[in-house]
Amino acid sequence: MQVTLKILRYNPEKDNRPHWESYRLEVEPMDRVLDLLHKVKWETDGTLAFRKSCGHGICGSDAMLINGRNRLACKTLVQDLGTDTITVEPIRGLPVEKDLIVDMRPFFSAYRAVKPWLINDEPPPERERLQSPEERMRFDEGTKCILCAACTTSCPVFWVNGTYIGPAAVVQAHRFIFDSRDQGAAERFATLGSTGGVWRCRTAYNCTEACPREIPVTQLIGEVKRAMMFGEM
Ligand code: SF4
Ligand code: F3S
Ligand code: FES
Repeated sequence: MQVTLKILRYNPEKDNRPHWESYRLEVEPMDRVLDLLHKVKWETDGTLAFRKSCGHGICGSDAMLINGRNRLACKTLVQDLGTDTITVEPIRGLPVEKDLIVDMRPFFSAYRAVKPWLINDEPPPERERLQSPEERMRFDEGTKCILCAACTTSCPVFWVNGTYIGPAAVVQAHRFIFDSRDQGAAERFATLGSTGGVWRCRTAYNCTEACPREIPVTQLIGEVKRAMMFGEM
């Protein structure tokens, strides 16, 4: 089958603003959008810039806006888009460096701000810190996050206020706040309660719809808010 792939291109060295470029491609229904981008790069225009690594939905590096929705290019099949016109744009709310590549530093700086590591100053036990299966399940959803930024860059609050730490950072905070072995909740609450913290969330749900790992992002945000308000953990 033939499709038209429209890519929002931007080269900071010669363009004043992004512009669309179209490519007519012969593809298979089971091809992924990532395959189409490779086809353009390898066969038509080697200057096309995009990120990818694993190719299998694990590394989180190829989130992009495909037909108006944040998705992973490596997990999006042509046949699932149900159209012969495919648009690809960089994820929104982060500065575009070139074509589909954005500057992820603000995203990772919000990630680091919630201290996404185990905090526990007690001397470690002789063997492992034990945890029941129920305690482990309490933070299971957050462990599925691949830090692709699809959630944060689909959030309208993040678009208009770049200081909002964004849903991905809250998911990471949730992963540790609800870990029975962790004692760093108060430190994380200080960040989450600050001006750009979790109270900026207006329950828009875009984040949940965008998550390629099907994490119930908005629900986790609600759980963090309740933990901060009522100590429900
Ligand atoms: Fe990506 Fe989902 Fe993690 Fe957000 S919560 S960064 S959308 S995997
Ligand atoms: Fe944004 Fe998700 Fe809240 S889209 S407003 S973080 S529910
Ligand atoms: Fe790794 Fe798509 S290339 S998630």
